[in-house]
Amino acid sequence: MTSPRRGAFVPGPEHHRIVVLTGAGLSARTGLGTFRGPGGVWDLEPELEAAMHAGRLPGSIPQLWSVWGRMAGIASAHGPTPGHRALARMGAHVITQNIDGLHQAAGSEGVAELHGSALRATCLDSRCDWRAPAAPGPGERAEDHGVPAACPVCGAPTRPDVVLFDEQLPAADLDLALELARSADLFAAVGTSGVVFPAAQLAPLAREAGALTVLLDLDPPSQAGPRTGFDLVIEGDAHEVLPAWERAVNGVAQRSFLDPFGS
Ligand code: APR
Repeated sequence: MTSPRRGAFVPGPEHHRIVVLTGAGLSARTGLGTFRGPGGVWDLEPELEAAMHAGRLPGSIPQLWSVWGRMAGIASAHGPTPGHRALARMGAHVITQNIDGLHQAAGSEGVAELHGSALRATCLDSRCDWRAPAAPGPGERAEDHGVPAACPVCGAPTRPDVVLFDEQLPAADLDLALELARSADLFAAVGTSGVVFPAAQLAPLAREAGALTVLLDLDPPSQAGPRTGFDLVIEGDAHEVLPAWERAVNGVAQRSFLDPFGS
């Protein structure tokens, strides 16, 4: 099978169960940018990436509130993008590495949040399952995000519920992601560089289980293809390609401005 590299593919009637893994590329246009590549957060601020390791806890907590609170603030100020909305409207099952809550804001339900959420707080003690909403915005203190500094259940410090490097992923979300990958007819990875595990294992797993797997990226790595778990590689903008997929799935012809509602 040849791999069309520019927007030739749309889901067909055989793709009943569409599962999509998303990354920073889908939220980049909100102002969040991406993590890697030219202008990526980790490339611009390597010391910030270093602070995102579990080994830096608990000293890193103020920086975590500040970084993830700021990111959540940017995302909620902008709101969901055309790509987020198209996935919600086509009823795609969403697995995300993003912590910005934009899929839920677009109307997607049952989202598997592999890397947690910046809109939630949790307890530093991983044996304690206290969780609470956290307000987006600036501030290094838990109180700046409407969260008590000490866990009301066990008294340990609180922190953003975002998964750090060298930390376990939330078990329920990971189980859901594995189940979705194994049950997909069409599995698409959108706006993710595919270098972080276990998220990067989901496409090969879905392909093994019989799904058609597609990588959609503005700048896909040259080696992307069957050897990296993808039947098709689309070099394109998620905010153009996903609305076209949605139209195909919902049987909406490309409307012309002469007949926007399709008589
Ligand atoms: N449409 C499609 N792809 C895009 C777009 C767009 N409009 N804009 C950017 N991209 C692509 C980039 O080409 C890049 O391949 O999105 C990808 C973003 O990759 P990363 O910055 O590496 O982000 P991601 O893969 O989500 O990172 C995974 O790493 O840092 C940790 O926990 C963090 O969840 C994150 C994880």
